[in-house]
Amino acid sequence: MKIMVVGGGGREHAIIKSLAKNPKAEAIYALPGNGGIASDAECVDIKATDIEGIVEFAKAKAIDYAVVAPDDPLAMGAVDALNALGIRAFGPDKKAAVIEASKIFSKNLMKKYGIPTAAYEVFEEPKAALEYLKTSPIPVVIKADGLALGKGVVIAETREEAEAAVHSMMEDRKFGDSGTKIVIEEFLTGPEVSVLSFTDGRTVVPMVSSQDHKRALDGDKGLNTGGMGTVAPNPYYTEEVAERCMKEIFLPTIEAMNAEGRTFRGCLYFGLVITADGPKVIEYNCRFGDPETQVVLPLLESDLLEIMEAVTDGRLSEVPVKFADKCACCVVIASGGYPGSYEKGCEITMGEMDENTEVFVAGAALQDDVLKTSGGRVMGVTSVAPTLAEAIDAAYENVKKISFEKAYYRTDIGKRALEAERN
Ligand code: AMP
Ligand code: GLY
Repeated sequence: MKIMVVGGGGREHAIIKSLAKNPKAEAIYALPGNGGIASDAECVDIKATDIEGIVEFAKAKAIDYAVVAPDDPLAMGAVDALNALGIRAFGPDKKAAVIEASKIFSKNLMKKYGIPTAAYEVFEEPKAALEYLKTSPIPVVIKADGLALGKGVVIAETREEAEAAVHSMMEDRKFGDSGTKIVIEEFLTGPEVSVLSFTDGRTVVPMVSSQDHKRALDGDKGLNTGGMGTVAPNPYYTEEVAERCMKEIFLPTIEAMNAEGRTFRGCLYFGLVITADGPKVIEYNCRFGDPETQVVLPLLESDLLEIMEAVTDGRLSEVPVKFADKCACCVVIASGGYPGSYEKGCEITMGEMDENTEVFVAGAALQDDVLKTSGGRVMGVTSVAPTLAEAIDAAYENVKKISFEKAYYRTDIGKRALEAERN
């Protein structure tokens, strides 16, 4: 089988390494991939958002199966375009991808179908938004409607900060058209849990739960990033919480999308907060999370390709989806300065990783066969072990074997999860 994976980050590297375990995967192409992915797939210089280029490549190479991993091409209709050519593809079509591409759509969906989420109001005019903020509870959360590279969310601790966010999104158009309309919502308190799930629109199978670390600095301080590390499973996601999520959130969401004529097939990501009143949704993503995938897939014992094909063909209930009874920790190594400005082109040196440890490359390019940094998040190091404490220790031991100028990583990935485990 010839397989094509659209995307070029750590998440795609993890997906490719898992797909490659199936002997049916005779060739894997990554569009565009990166310097690290090049060890596991043939990288093709086509951008993930170049839908025409992707489709032409798929046709020319007679691709048998495609996996579209990032949000942008999904929202742009990459799966629709591939299906139109008769190429099977993993991921939601454009109509279903709107669950992530429009926060207003997803908030209205949850309200209509009684799915627990933060209380909210939608605004199309800055004046009305600013008026509302005069009396809203603080902290308050301001979200741009559209995709904004994960940066369209502001948690405002003061009224001034909230007003500034409205000005920058709606008037200065910091996120372009994504911020023409905004959602202002209640701030939820409680531990966050990410649950990725496979669904074919009938069956929904949650994967092992995980926890992201979004802030740049230790102690959850500093700016929001794409994610500085993850652990799985997430100790806050108890069996009781999982049962409630299935009944109150997962199944109702799948049914709601069906009722709207937007059947979702692919990986549906539930971003949850476990509040005092139970689990609530803070966001849906129409794709695998990054860096959640880098801890979830290494724990998958079943065959990823087989599961993905079953999702596409609507027979997910027929295949096993089993996760190891182990723990995983991923520590992201970033370029110093990220998520602000940072240097590129620094040479990366790497020792040999221990068994049960994998490196997923995100922002690195090959220059004359030398691996050099090319992005903010450079790579993630994932270790799998019987306990969370051992997985964390192993990941940090292996991180020490990687070096490049101004490399930076958080030293407390998994610390809160360990504390939660002890309580
Ligand atoms: P998002 O881009 O929707 O993933 O939001 C980014 C981050 O903002 C989330 O992971 C949460 O940490 C935080 N967040 C978003 N919405 C809320 C909310 N209503 N209450 C508390 N935190 C939130
Ligand atoms: N790690 C959060 C995301 O993928 O959106």
